Amino acid sequence: MAGIKVLVLVGSLRAASINRQLAELSVEQAPDGVDLRIFDRLGELPFYNEDIDTPEVAEPVVALREAAAGADAALVVTPEYNGSIPGVLKNAIDWLSRPWGDGALKDKPLAVVGAALGQYGGVWAHDETRKSFGIAGPRVVEDLKLSVPSKTLDGKHPRENDEVAASLRDIVGKLAAEVD
Ligand SMILES: Cc1cc2nc3c(=O)[nH]c(=O)nc-3n(C[C@H](O)[C@H](O)[C@H](O)COP(=O)(O)O)c2cc1C
Repeated sequence: MAGIKVLVLVGSLRAASINRQLAELSVEQAPDGVDLRIFDRLGELPFYNEDIDTPEVAEPVVALREAAAGADAALVVTPEYNGSIPGVLKNAIDWLSRPWGDGALKDKPLAVVGAALGQYGGVWAHDETRKSFGIAGPRVVEDLKLSVPSKTLDGKHPRENDEVAASLRDIVGKLAAEVD
């Protein structure tokens, strides 16, 4: 593997976000030749509105679409909010889905992972994120899955959990291997 770029999107804006920590862990332990970059600006995106999705679209949207266009694959790391996708992430999916049929992640492999408080680790949100991105344009790699119940981390950084760290490393490697 050489020169593979992976866009990382985090579905939580919280400073101490466990999902942000998972995303940072994915960056830390990326395989040689794989460059993961977290797009930090999801909180700056306006709510999706077709009236403002014009050539003069807001700068954070341009930045998101450029980051997506420059990536070969995407890793999404998200918690579950009320049994579903956090609004900040769904908004990013909607921006990335346009232009319809020609979004910046079109046909690129994408994997969804994350952690949540519930006993299933946010699996509803993860399944719905796969469904939504599957409609929006990327090629969702359905069998790359990791839903971590946050209690299993015992209040520690995910890098201190060997099993979680190994699963994440494996998923990032397999995601990179999906790049054509
Ligand atoms: C608005 C809101 C809704 C939530 N809904 C769920 C839920 O449906 N299922 C769940 O497992 N956890 C839920 N949680 C708890 C989150 O999983 C937990 O706060 C998690 O640590 C958030 O991710 P973060 O640490 O990356 O910010 C919710 C939290 C918030 C703030």
